[in-house]
Order: sequence, then structure tokens, then C-alpha cells
Amino acid sequence: MGQLIVVSNRVSVPERSAGPRAGGLEVAVNAALKERPGTWFGWSGKIATLGTIATQTVIQNHITFITIDLSREDHQEYYRGFANRVLWPIFHYRIDLAEFSRRDLSGYLRVNDNFARHLDKVLGPDDLVWVHDYHLMPLAKALRERGRKNRIGFFLHIPCPQPEMLTALPHHERLLPSLCDYDLIGFQTGNDAFNFSRYLTRECGLHSRDFNFVVADCTVSVGAFPVGIETAAFGDLARKSVRLPFVKRVIRSLDGRALVIGVDRLDYSKGIAERLSAFERFLQKQVEWRGKVTYLQIAPKSRTEIPEYADIEQETGAAAGRINGAFGEADWTPIRYVNRAYSHATLAGLYRAARVALVTPLRDGMNLVAKEFVASQNPDDPGVLILSRFAGAAQECKAALLVNPYDPDSVAAALGQALSMSLPERRERHASMFQTLSRNDIRHWAHDYLTALEREPNTSSFFEAQPVQ
Ligand code: F6P
Repeated sequence: MGQLIVVSNRVSVPERSAGPRAGGLEVAVNAALKERPGTWFGWSGKIATLGTIATQTVIQNHITFITIDLSREDHQEYYRGFANRVLWPIFHYRIDLAEFSRRDLSGYLRVNDNFARHLDKVLGPDDLVWVHDYHLMPLAKALRERGRKNRIGFFLHIPCPQPEMLTALPHHERLLPSLCDYDLIGFQTGNDAFNFSRYLTRECGLHSRDFNFVVADCTVSVGAFPVGIETAAFGDLARKSVRLPFVKRVIRSLDGRALVIGVDRLDYSKGIAERLSAFERFLQKQVEWRGKVTYLQIAPKSRTEIPEYADIEQETGAAAGRINGAFGEADWTPIRYVNRAYSHATLAGLYRAARVALVTPLRDGMNLVAKEFVASQNPDDPGVLILSRFAGAAQECKAALLVNPYDPDSVAAALGQALSMSLPERRERHASMFQTLSRNDIRHWAHDYLTALEREPNTSSFFEAQPVQ
């Protein structure tokens, strides 16, 4: 048997990522590679200067990390342009924010081709290749064009919208069918897998048997594999981390007030502005809570050179300042808004100290913060998760208080309900979610996906349709 080769845009090379928390993809892939060591290949995070594109190889804990730099042009067109100003908004149901240019599309295809050229040098004939996320959709096609017959899987970490929306992607007919060069296309939820299957049927005229589509003489399978976390390990980490000096300092600074926590990359898909409005509504309507809660919103800046992200940064800062000005007192600041990223350990401790987590994205593939919050709780006295129904995690966290993030009144009401929820109800809700998340942890995800990728197609169905949201 060959080795596992994981490919993603970002690579979390240990010595470079000791500090702040990585994105959900890096967390998941990292954990999966602990189960089955191999090679992790992708962008170094660096932009090449002087026209020299360097590659770096680091071997640690039986994992080989191979990273390559991007040229300035590649970074602009592939990463900032097509991946994050076209694919990201459209796949998050925000066609209105998409900014397409042909130049960015060709940069995107060029970088994928370049990744394939580098991979081709290290790939053995029996290696299993697992490609992650929207940056690398045409990678299998580029590898097949080089004659590669390996089994190659793709996993989309972000949501997949309905075919009506996918067809708004300029040149979708060139790009999306190229996913059929993979052997297995994995999605976060049954709903996402169903949406893509409908696209293949409607736009490509393909018909499936048990979600296996036959293309030329090959079969591509479509399935749902919800990403998990290291549930037990994260719980242990949280137990220890409440004793970290920094976490203790935060707890002391609350002066007995209930902590409400939100942790998100500063991204328009996360619904932070809508959440702040909901918190404002809560303070307006449930006056008895004024002075008794502190809402800590941790929002590390992200993709700052993209205009939509600069806008959200300004709006969010202004909204937090306005609410604090209107409701704050000399001895109480309702919202603590910080753009800093914290380590896993610190976050785990803060989650455990919080009474409520507000996880209310407008759309999210999965959202691991929701799962980590549940894993971090003290089962005897757990906090309450308020979760957007539009996060993939809502499929497994049905015992959370599920809300519509577009409706500030309902989020405000849920916050009041969470803060005054009885201990037995909190315990019951937490136990049910914790049990599910312990079963569907990251090992389960990696194992399920890789087993399906290795399995010969057409033997059985591994797709289970889930109710459409
Ligand atoms: O989860 C989606 C995702 O785009 C990942 O692919 C990525 O690691 C993370 O969000 C952070 O985004 P970026 O790599 O653009 O900083």
C-alpha cells in the first residue's frame, strides 16, 4: 500500500503554527494525519520575491510537509481573486459579492496545474491522494492529464449551494464537471452532497446509482462526511486550560458576570454584524441582564487585502463601539471585541469558562467552534450552545438552541433562554451533543472518508440523504 498524500492550500507546518489557532481545515487535516501519517503538500503561505519559487520540506512526527511559495501574480489571481472573491462568496450563497475576472480564473487554473506538476514528482503509483477545499477543484484533472491513475479524493470544507446558484459561477461548465476526475467527492452534510448531485444531473446530464455517477468509463462517488474534532482530547485540554494564568485572569476580570463567547475568523459569512445587532436587541429588551453579562467576541482578521473583508472589519468595529457607548457603564463594558488569534489551549479554557457560545454564521460548511465549545464543557455544569441552523454542525448538534441568524429577535430571545436555562436542561442538552460528537470525532471522519476512497465503486451506497434545511 502506498502512502497518503494530503493536499490543501494552507499547510499547518508544526514549527510555524505553534501559536494562534489555525482555520478549521488545518485543524481537521492535522488531526487526520496523526491517525495515518503521510505527506501534506500545499502553499507555504509565502509570496516569492525576486522570481524564485522555493519549495520547503520538513519532516516531523512521521509526516512530511512539502510547501511551495506562490508568485505575487499567482497569489493575486488564484488566492485573493478566484478562490476568495468568486468561489468563496458563491459557495456561501453570496452571489452579490462575487467579482469575476478571466485573468483570475486563468491564474487559478495555472496554480492548480503547478501544484500537479510538483505533486507528480513525489507521487508513487499506489499513493492515495486526498485534496481539500475549493482552492483545488481542478487538481485531479491536472493530475489525470499527466497520466496519473491513483485514487484521488476531494473534500469540500465549505457549503455547496443549489445548482441554481452554482450556475451563477462564470465558466461553471468548465470548472465544476472537472470534479468528476476525482474518485470520491466528499461534502460536510447530506444537503451539500445532494445539491452537487443535482448539479451533475441537471447540468451535466449524469445519472446516479446510489450516488455513484458514471463518467466515460470511470465512476465518481458523492458522499457526506461531516468533519469532527478530537472530542475527548479537546475536553481534556479544556479541563487543564481553565487553570492557565491568562484564562484565570479573564475569569477574574468578569467580576462574577456571565461570559458569552463568540470565536470566528473576521469573515462576512460568520454573521458577526448580525450577532452584534442581536446582542444589542437583547440588551434593549431584557434589561434585567444589563451589567450581568459580558460578551467576548474574538475575531482574528482574515484576508485583509480583499475589499469585502476590509468593509466588514470597519463595520464590526463600529457596531461594537456603538453598542458599548449606548449601554456601557463606567464599570461595565458589554462587548469585548478583540481581533487577536488565541491558541487552542486558551480558547479551550475560555470555552469552558463561558455560560453561552454564540455561533451564528449566515452559512458555514461545518463550524468546529461549535463542536469545540461542546467538548470543552464541564458535564456537571455545562454552558449552552446557540447555533445557526445554517452551520453544517447543526445537523449533529440538534440539542443546541438552533436559531435563524438573520432574525435578531430570535437570537436575542435564545440568549435570554440560554442564560436562564435550568441545570437539568443544560446537562441533558450537553450530554446528547457530547455523545454524538464523541462518536463522530475526527478519527471517524478520516477513517470513513479514506475507507470510502479506497473502496471499489458501485459496491454499496455510503451516502445517506439528510433532510434539506
Ligand atoms: O475552512 C475554509 C478555509 O478557507 C480553509 O480552507 C482555510 O484553511 C481557512 O478557511 C482559513 O482561510 P484562509 O486560508 O484564506 O486564511
